[in-house]
Amino acid sequence: MTPPRVNPIVTTRPSIARVQNWLLRDTENYAPDRRLGLALAEAAPWYPGTVRDTRAGMPAAVMHLVSTLGIRQIIDLGCGLPSRAPAPTVYSVARSVLPTARVVYVDHDPHVMAHAATVLVESDATSAISADLRTGLGLCPGMLCRYLDLEQPIGVLCRDLLPWLTDTEAAGLLSLLREQLSPGSAVSIVHVASDAAPRGAQLLAELYGQAGIEFRPRTFAQLDRLLDAWRIGLRERAATPCVYEVVAHIPTNRTLTAGGGS
Ligand SMILES: C[S@@+](CC[C@H](N)C(=O)[O-])C[C@H]1O[C@@H](n2cnc3c(N)ncnc32)[C@H](O)[C@@H]1O
Repeated sequence: MTPPRVNPIVTTRPSIARVQNWLLRDTENYAPDRRLGLALAEAAPWYPGTVRDTRAGMPAAVMHLVSTLGIRQIIDLGCGLPSRAPAPTVYSVARSVLPTARVVYVDHDPHVMAHAATVLVESDATSAISADLRTGLGLCPGMLCRYLDLEQPIGVLCRDLLPWLTDTEAAGLLSLLREQLSPGSAVSIVHVASDAAPRGAQLLAELYGQAGIEFRPRTFAQLDRLLDAWRIGLRERAATPCVYEVVAHIPTNRTLTAGGGS
């Protein structure tokens, strides 16, 4: 078990993870989170549903990675606060099909890290890393190899993380994953899509912006472009109009070369 380092928690302004927690009708949030959550739900009544759908889709995504693709180790990027029990954790889902599965949780929010220490890190097979994924530094092989076997396939959860990164940061993270992951790895990506509700999406971005949080709902076309380099193996989009969901695969026949992409 690796307890993560925990920095002071700021409660006087909203945090992405706690606003999401409020939108999930959970209790791990403070007045500024609830105020922003309420404003978001009023501005775009479909938004809380997409947040809930994204969280509710996690078990199926983990099952796909572990059971269908046979991947034995998962890294959850921007893991967020755990939902109230009996909602499953990523590890509990992975372990239900593969008792030896390993899971690493990554986030940069100290509140999330505090919960990771008490809830998510539940056995020797689970770890949590506090890292800012804008720079990709948290994924440097030197740090990750303490927890995972980088020679073996890794299942990456990248669910509702990219809207909080700029295009350059998101493209950098995706390209790092493409270059560093072993053949047979796969990335589950979920992103708010603005096509069906452009005005609501713009209001969301404005409200988050007023709270000091940069949120980027992207169109399907923008997301296709962001993921263009993966090309092979993209799975169908989610049925929900405001959600873009794909699983991007690292081909099993790819040869790893220094700095080489797919
Ligand atoms: C909306 S939540 C998604 C939580 C979970 N993945 C889910 O699908 O329910 C986004 C999470 O990403 C984290 N996050 C945002 N920007 C980040 C960054 N630059 N580095 C690390 N984590 C980040 C937030 O702290 C938050 O916990």
